[in-house]
Amino acid sequence: MDPSVSASDYFGSIIAEYDSLIRRAVPRYEEMSARLVDYLPDRPERILELGAGTGNLTARLAERFGTATITAVDASLEMLDATRSRLGDAAGRLKTVCARFEDLAFNDGSFDLCVSCISLHHVRDKGALFGRLRRWLAPGGWLVFADQFRGATDEIHRVNWDGWLAFCREPGGCSDDEIRELLEHAEAHDHYEPVAAHFDYLCAAGFERGSLDCVWRNLIWGVLTARTPG
Ligand SMILES: C[S@@+](CC[C@H](N)C(=O)[O-])C[C@H]1O[C@@H](n2cnc3c(N)ncnc32)[C@H](O)[C@@H]1O
Repeated sequence: MDPSVSASDYFGSIIAEYDSLIRRAVPRYEEMSARLVDYLPDRPERILELGAGTGNLTARLAERFGTATITAVDASLEMLDATRSRLGDAAGRLKTVCARFEDLAFNDGSFDLCVSCISLHHVRDKGALFGRLRRWLAPGGWLVFADQFRGATDEIHRVNWDGWLAFCREPGGCSDDEIRELLEHAEAHDHYEPVAAHFDYLCAAGFERGSLDCVWRNLIWGVLTARTPG
């Protein structure tokens, strides 16, 4: 894979296949985003979503929180267009920001909730991102995100990785070419770290230690929660 092609260029280029591919490449994808929504706070009015993609999680948020404003960020304009189309009538409550997560700037306390689904592992400096997210959240605001994590040990990571590839190779799963491209993408763009390292970054960023949890886990995928002091 050409290293000058960013992760978002890659996703923008596969937008037509994205919704099919993600379900053949991520085991229990629907269950993961449904579980993420189960752990969200009751009435967030200002939601920030990092990495909207084709709007799969955005649509769940719009349905669950009928009056909330959703600010959806993605570095791919094609993806943000897809999200807007996906939302239908709820698009009036959607703001889109086409930018890299690393380049974002918002005023302190701008959001009640930040969510993300399998997007933050594209960021190398997670500590810096979590520090900015903590400031953009209001006191008592939540960060709840699904993502891909390294296992705590090489042995655990190997079991998880092999389990993922076995899923991709199931009948009706990914073709050999798709698996090769997924592996090239992972090599070029993914920065996996263990859940425990994420908890360390989140604590250092000022999130409450007692709010940190891994509320769902399957192979390399998991859903983490963190709250700012309120
Ligand atoms: C795997 S997709 C996930 C999309 C969606 N959340 C879902 O669950 O299907 C990752 C998304 O993050 C975006 N992305 C990746 N790295 C990014 C970055 N550094 N800044 C902004 N967007 C990024 C990609 O364009 C893509 O739409």
